[in-house]
Amino acid sequence: MFLGIDLGTSGVKTILMDENQKVLATKSASIAVSRPRPGWSEQNAEDWWTATQHTLDALKGERPGQMTAVKGIGLSGHMHGATLLDAEDKVLRPCILWNDGRSAAECAELEKAEPALRTIAGNVAMPGFTAPKVQWVRNNEPEVYERIAKVLLPKDYLRLRLTGEYVGEMSDAAGTLWLDVAARDWSDGLLDATGLDRSHMPSLVEGSQPSAAVKPDLASRWGMARPPVVAGGGGDNAASACGVGTIAPGSAFVSLGTSGVLFASNEKFSPNTANAVHAFCHAVPGTWHQMGVVLAATDCLEWLARATGKSVAALSGLVSEEGLEASPALFLPYLGGERTPHNDVSLRAAFVGLAHESDTAVLTQTVFEGVAFAFRDCLEALKQAGTEVSRATAVGGGSRSRAWLKIIASALDIEIDIPEEGDFGAALGAARLGVCAATGADPSEICAPPPMTGSIAPDAALTQAYNESYARYRAITPAIKSALTG
Ligand code: XUL
Repeated sequence: MFLGIDLGTSGVKTILMDENQKVLATKSASIAVSRPRPGWSEQNAEDWWTATQHTLDALKGERPGQMTAVKGIGLSGHMHGATLLDAEDKVLRPCILWNDGRSAAECAELEKAEPALRTIAGNVAMPGFTAPKVQWVRNNEPEVYERIAKVLLPKDYLRLRLTGEYVGEMSDAAGTLWLDVAARDWSDGLLDATGLDRSHMPSLVEGSQPSAAVKPDLASRWGMARPPVVAGGGGDNAASACGVGTIAPGSAFVSLGTSGVLFASNEKFSPNTANAVHAFCHAVPGTWHQMGVVLAATDCLEWLARATGKSVAALSGLVSEEGLEASPALFLPYLGGERTPHNDVSLRAAFVGLAHESDTAVLTQTVFEGVAFAFRDCLEALKQAGTEVSRATAVGGGSRSRAWLKIIASALDIEIDIPEEGDFGAALGAARLGVCAATGADPSEICAPPPMTGSIAPDAALTQAYNESYARYRAITPAIKSALTG
């Protein structure tokens, strides 16, 4: 038996999986995000641990026999969050999350302090990443900064609570801006730019390697016969890739979660900093990946649901795959700024071209299309980094809408494959990495693509219409930006 624990932004999902990769049970517990100021986004690390314990207690209650046999655990989590610990492992302040935009000035500071930053880290300094967040704390909360003994990523903090060990892994570490991504090792120069050194960092393993064992008292609390081994695991995107078999170079997935991700696996480190492509290590050895990141994907639909007083499901139900025609209106999905290709936290969202007849259905479709055009931006950015994507697997909660997938397939002119169980993504990938760590199995065999229910092809007429809409979308972005900033 194996467990996959995925620490998502809105909650923890834990799956229990058998030797044949059959998911036997899933338990979830939600977690709140606090937004103390516009553009800020934080969580309490203790809430992650409470939610994780809930899921494991619930599995023990429901599946005691199978929990006895758990041999391996994999961890996945939202990336980039700065979990700051003092010398007694006390959390020093709420974790500043991946979608927090407060550290734009610090990004410029870091690029100046270490001119080789882009070359070593393979990425532009973006406020989402970890190092600028710590630099912000250095500049604004010096009393907190002085007490930092360790900085852990969110899922690595869960590992600390589970095992008592400070260990990170390559895929998540690549999103800190402290990693030499080509060498798969911490960079002394990048650490120095934030006044830190290797002593502040966890040790590193590959995602499919063992990191540490569960503490004996916790193992017995959950009825495990022997303390299971915890795999390195992966940042949520690399873990999702392991869950949907996006391991082989050239394979890709499109994720419609809170944020949106177009992810491609690469056999070598392939940065494109000019267009804010993320170039990270994969969670399996000797493999890298590129991502275009859309900061708000299903978040845009959630926003529209709040604004219209309708549920997300009700809104989704208004847009059907049949008879789709391009919306006459446009939506820029920049509710909290954008990463790829703009790297601009000050961008904001806009509807353009609304008319008397623009009802809730039109607004919803226009939001779907706006997110699809943001993915098209990612596709173009990956293309400029040498990666052609012609088909991708759909993952994430938003992929339950076939209409949204049809819109994305047509706007990007790619085929989209739909897994039978699209929702397991990162938790399944984490559990698979748990298998590799516990048994020594080859990740490329364990992380195979799951059975698909089918695929969605682009619609030629829609693709043509969307090419025109996309050109207008590109043209209005700078106009909206200057209208907002003067
Ligand atoms: C990736 C990113 C998000 C988070 C949250 O760079 O910031 O995908 O990992 O899911």
